[in-house]
Amino acid sequence: MEQGIKTSVQSNQREIHDDLEGLVQKHLATSWREPTPEHSRAASKEILSLLNRHRGPLILDSFCGTGMSTTKIAADHPDALVIGIDKSSDRLSKHLRVPHQNYRLFQATCEHVWAELVEAQVKCQKHYLLYPNPWPKKGHLKRRIHGHPSFPLLKTLGGVIEVRSNWKIYVDEFAKASKLLGLQAETTALSVTDPLTLFERKYALDHQGLWRCTAHGLDH
Ligand SMILES: C[S@@+](CC[C@H](N)C(=O)[O-])C[C@H]1O[C@@H](n2cnc3c(N)ncnc32)[C@H](O)[C@@H]1O
Repeated sequence: MEQGIKTSVQSNQREIHDDLEGLVQKHLATSWREPTPEHSRAASKEILSLLNRHRGPLILDSFCGTGMSTTKIAADHPDALVIGIDKSSDRLSKHLRVPHQNYRLFQATCEHVWAELVEAQVKCQKHYLLYPNPWPKKGHLKRRIHGHPSFPLLKTLGGVIEVRSNWKIYVDEFAKASKLLGLQAETTALSVTDPLTLFERKYALDHQGLWRCTAHGLDH
């Protein structure tokens, strides 16, 4: 923990995981492909059809929860099609609709949608991954985004990737793993005035330290 910065994440891990580099290298050497479950396949097909009609930039909001961030990002990027993805029907059912026409929410597993979009050679302009489950136990590394075999798909999808978390080790690991993919990445402290998500609002009210990693290819 940084000196003087409050965190509520309890973990038996004190620094970047020793196995991170080996795991990312292993995932880079193979290409992940797991059969896409039917609901995620149907969601991906619909996203592709929306994109065909939209023809403008695509912004992904993976792990969008109730979709609060999706609506805010859509309002800030009126030319983009903003797609929020979350696997929880319960979270998505709590979505508060806003009148913007340029966003849609999908119930699906992010990693399968990423794989389908990569297969269709889709590129995104920006990719938000806001407060993913941290899986803070040391033994949970493979469940974190950067420890999962689908992680290299994020580079292929392109754009500027932004991860936020209240656990600095998670963000530092994500930055290190992104560099192993050949991306440029940096971690910064986040100071929140207008929360983008419900979790961000909760953490900010609790005065927890928040962190952001932005990662992108050399072309950005
Ligand atoms: C901690 S919540 C954060 C939600 C939102 N981004 C926020 O900050 O308020 C993490 C979200 O990830 C979703 N999730 C976890 N694994 C997922 C996966 N493989 N595919 C899609 N959603 C997933 C959960 O349903 C949950 O809504």
